[in-house]
Amino acid sequence: MAETVVDQKLNSTDKVEMVTIKLEKSSDSPTPETKTTADNEDVESVEEQPLDIGEHYLVRRSDGSWHPAEIIQTRYNDQESHFEYYVHYEGYNRRLDEWVARDRIMNSRFEMSDQQRKNEMKPAGDLLSDQSDRKITRNQKRRHDEINHIQKTYAEMDPTTAALEKEHEAITKVKYIDRVQIGRYEIDTWYFSPYPDEYGKQPKLWICEFCLKYMRLEKTYRYHMSECTWRHPPGKEIYRVGTLSVYEVDGKDHKIYCQNLCLLAKLFLDHKTLYFDVEPFLFYILCEVDKYGYHIVGYFSKEKESPDGNNVACILTLPPYQRQGYGKLLIAFSYELSKRESAVGSPEKPLSDLGKLSYRSYWSWVLLEILRDFRGTVSIKDLSQMTSITQTDIISTLQSMNMVKYWKGQHVICVTPKLVEEHIRSSHFKRPRLTVDSDQLNWTPPRKTQGKAGKK
Ligand code: ACO
Ligand code: ZN
Repeated sequence: MAETVVDQKLNSTDKVEMVTIKLEKSSDSPTPETKTTADNEDVESVEEQPLDIGEHYLVRRSDGSWHPAEIIQTRYNDQESHFEYYVHYEGYNRRLDEWVARDRIMNSRFEMSDQQRKNEMKPAGDLLSDQSDRKITRNQKRRHDEINHIQKTYAEMDPTTAALEKEHEAITKVKYIDRVQIGRYEIDTWYFSPYPDEYGKQPKLWICEFCLKYMRLEKTYRYHMSECTWRHPPGKEIYRVGTLSVYEVDGKDHKIYCQNLCLLAKLFLDHKTLYFDVEPFLFYILCEVDKYGYHIVGYFSKEKESPDGNNVACILTLPPYQRQGYGKLLIAFSYELSKRESAVGSPEKPLSDLGKLSYRSYWSWVLLEILRDFRGTVSIKDLSQMTSITQTDIISTLQSMNMVKYWKGQHVICVTPKLVEEHIRSSHFKRPRLTVDSDQLNWTPPRKTQGKAGKK
């Protein structure tokens, strides 16, 4: 057996650089802790004793690097006759949590102090490394943390948020459903979703891409696909340009479809509480159309009446379609609806790391486009009316581009054509790949229920 290159003497003073050692051969897993003799038979007996929940170990990630991780749960895999461990990689977003076999876990336990965790859990390819000589602005730090999916520690949160966050994590810690098959995609899931018990503990679910029914067995799924007559979402097609289509679905009229959609979406959303009470919401389903039907790409949901002025509750692009511009298309679409309603709106908080990136990118683009062509004076209120973006979101976006000053108790836009051009040429500014053609939007705002009084 080839020798592993992993240093067994890791302790609390070791640097992370030392632990992200790549093994020369990925099959060279470290020897189990209790294996003190040359007796290879021990491997089996070690396998039979599961590791303890809550302990920290170095775990080999799928790219071959070793990373400190906590054991969250264990299960016995009947099919492969071994224990599996659900691990959380320290300092990383929980969507990277996964089930791993024993051979990906290093035998020696690993303990890190909080300070070390903070200082040293910087992911590889650090975005700020080329700026080490400069002071990092708060905006740069925020953007960096978002892009690298750095989670706030409990100590960095206010006490209420920390308590809520702990409770949320306790309930949603383990993601039993690893994968879903939907249409032609098998997708790795990111988070826990509350599918009913007999479905919720399966490693894989099969989902009809048209009616969103979920199934445990491949054969049931195959049978369903031969029977199911759906080829597009329920509801009404309100937008169609080329192969892109958007359906509006009322949660009240199509309850099961919308509940199934929410359960599916939860697999990719960490903070989300809407699963079953779908009636107060409208759902906007984005599809790619081909000769086989309307393939769901993503969606956003929207409260029929939002006391907080939210124009989006949840937004999702399914992973196979991510990073191709669909997310910003959905965002743009949500603002087109708000424009038709002559209202301003903002997405429901908290935004996820990816949600923040997408919104900030959309807002920056919209505002820079206007400011570039604008001559004369424009107020934050004017911008808000033109775009349906709230004044708060406009101010924070302009602040992130250094385009706003606080003067005599008010925020004032402070830009020169040169500054606008600089931003347009910078890497922040991304022209969306997909845009909404508002002329093709076949939609008028639904009449709001003004109490029971009814007709005006
Ligand atoms: N890492 C770094 N940047 C990313 C990543 C990523 N994994 N994914 C998207 N981005 C960036 C893109 O580069 C793009 O920025 P740019 O315009 O500066 O290049 C921006 O985010 C948007 O990219 P799109 O391709 O338009 O968006 P996408 O189709 O990937 O969808 C979305 C974005 C909806 C947030 C998607 O990541 C997703 O579904 N995530 C899981 C669910 C989620 O977090 N939803 C938002 C929750 S908040 C709420 O619901 C109100
Ligand atoms: Zn179906």
